[in-house]
Amino acid sequence: MADQIAGSDASVLITGESGTGKEVVAKYLHAHSKRAAKPFISINCAAIPEALLESELFGHEKGAFTGAIGRRIGKFEEANGGTLLLDEISEMDFRLQSKLLRAIQERLIDRVGGNKPVPVDIRILATSNRNLNEAVREGSFREDLMFRLNVVNLKLPALRDRPGDIVALADHFVAKYAKANGLPARTLSPQAHTALLGAPWPGNVRELENTLHRAVLLSQTDIIGPDAISLPDGTGLNEATAAHSLSAQLAQTAETMSRAMVGRTVADVERDLILDTLDHTLGNRTHAANILGISIRTLRNKAQPICR
Ligand SMILES: Nc1ncnc2c1ncn2[C@@H]1O[C@H](COP(=O)(O)OP(=O)(O)OP(=O)(O)O)[C@@H](O)[C@H]1O
Ligand SMILES: [Mg+2]
Repeated sequence: MADQIAGSDASVLITGESGTGKEVVAKYLHAHSKRAAKPFISINCAAIPEALLESELFGHEKGAFTGAIGRRIGKFEEANGGTLLLDEISEMDFRLQSKLLRAIQERLIDRVGGNKPVPVDIRILATSNRNLNEAVREGSFREDLMFRLNVVNLKLPALRDRPGDIVALADHFVAKYAKANGLPARTLSPQAHTALLGAPWPGNVRELENTLHRAVLLSQTDIIGPDAISLPDGTGLNEATAAHSLSAQLAQTAETMSRAMVGRTVADVERDLILDTLDHTLGNRTHAANILGISIRTLRNKAQPICR
């Protein structure tokens, strides 16, 4: 999809969990566009204090505010002819969103303290790791701005949802960091691949990259096995994989159990629960009623056919 839309001037909203590669994709889009020879400018809307973001984006004229000792060009003008990446757009202040909307719609910007609009020719890319629809519903993001930005939405799946990428990326990072550190070529053993596939990767590609960088540096041999790979918190890869599959199994069991209940009446399920509890207490009703948090009388009534 990125290849299909790279050549157009359409705004693209790139969404995905942290570390999935949103910035990588933004750079890719620029590099494969007609604007590739022009600047690629990125600005992190979350990292810049609100009071500064406006002049960072749109620039300011000399004397626009205390400390504005000269004219300064903003990111919009810097990116002229090229691509502007608005990183973490969901964190932008609501008021500034209106100014941004105008800039995108009319391709005109107002420098802070300026009195004549400046035309700009840019393509806008934006990223968000928050669900923008939700932000709109909450009232923290302008709906009209979302529609403007979201001409195309590239959704990057979490790494755990694209296991095919795990092995390819892992091999890539091992080769990259062996080379970068002047070490002999290293490879991952098949067991290491399997263990990598089973880990949950909550930090996505960034976590995988850091993990393999560390493994390359710490490995004593040219073939890296699962034992030589540890996660940032110090747990071994095998442990993490086991914990992940155990919790996945538990979640699966819980889901199967609740599915199995659908279609049955409450009375039916209640009766089974009472029966199982009585089984557990070897028929002791007082004990069973205690466990269930009901009176002995209720237990007797509800379980009529069971305990007479
Ligand atoms: N397909 C890929 N190939 C190679 N490296 C990748 C790939 N995807 C991500 N990475 C690497 O993973 C790291 C995280 O990627 P990136 O910064 O693009 O993620 P992000 O989605 O912008 O994260 P955040 O939401 O935290 O800003 C970077 O070091 C990047 O180089
Ligand atoms: Mg990013």
